[in-house]
Amino acid sequence: MKHLLGIDDLGAEGIGEVLRLADSFLEVTRRDIPKVPALRGKTVVSMFYEDSTRTRLSFETAAKRLSADTMTFSAGSSSLRKGESLLDTVRTVEAMGIDAIVVRHKSSGVPQRIAGWIDASIINAGDGWHEHPTQALLDVYTLRRRLGALEGVRIWIVGDVLHSRVARSGIQAFARMGCEVTVCGPPTLIPRGVEALGCNVSWSLDGIGEADVIYALRMQNERMTGSFVPSLREYAARYQIDGRRLRPNQLLMHPGPVNRGVELAGEVVDSPQALIVQQVESGVVVRMAVLYELLAGGGPAREASRFTQEDPTRVEPQPA
Ligand code: NCD
Repeated sequence: MKHLLGIDDLGAEGIGEVLRLADSFLEVTRRDIPKVPALRGKTVVSMFYEDSTRTRLSFETAAKRLSADTMTFSAGSSSLRKGESLLDTVRTVEAMGIDAIVVRHKSSGVPQRIAGWIDASIINAGDGWHEHPTQALLDVYTLRRRLGALEGVRIWIVGDVLHSRVARSGIQAFARMGCEVTVCGPPTLIPRGVEALGCNVSWSLDGIGEADVIYALRMQNERMTGSFVPSLREYAARYQIDGRRLRPNQLLMHPGPVNRGVELAGEVVDSPQALIVQQVESGVVVRMAVLYELLAGGGPAREASRFTQEDPTRVEPQPA
């Protein structure tokens, strides 16, 4: 696999491979020196044209733990502001000799476009409403660590599904793992034809008692051009997950950032059923797995055992 642009690039096999690699990297991150030389000499650039806390920091941490060099392109302080085009910017970055670009952009399809322009591996860190594959992988990883096999697990994804790249990648990834996915929200925020991705649709929370996992989404105000709900208060009254709606046997997930008091009540964010912090922890090891898979390529099983046995302080021989 050269690029990770969407969940389709992986298939069920590929998802399994990333999860296995992530497990071996989890062991690495628990060492005193949580670092391996796997990507020494490789350079990973993060190009974020949209705000991010978790995704950018965890990609950078992941790259550093694999000993890659990292560069950060910050849209706000670059020559973009002087009118440089995306193509010219990307070619400039490529000319510095890089191996991968982690890109986030407000427009769907930008990572695909960049992949067609240059030789480096491209990782989609969120493009418009389209996809956010590493979020879906870390969600699957988090849930599998908690529940074991995911076959038959019922997941309700609740909220602004229409504008959510997390939901589009998540539905596909969870469905491939054998989960039964239902998306739920007001009709204005459920995209027409979403069932084709492999989910059921519900416009009310009435049936949510059947869910094993509730996955709440943030209202993506920055992507809304008109008004999709009468008011946030009314939205919260009908769709907010609070202590009354979350049953003791249900798990709660959210990609972050959470708007407390809108999609989730504060009490459930802080409840032991919430996996939100674990999702962030998984983000680092899953992104290590993705970077490793793309840049070191192939042989994950062999490499996984190598990492678990290797002395982290070992210096690899230099080629003559
Ligand atoms: C999500 C995103 O940016 O798509 N956040 C994330 O990557 N953790 C979801 C969101 O912003 O609501």
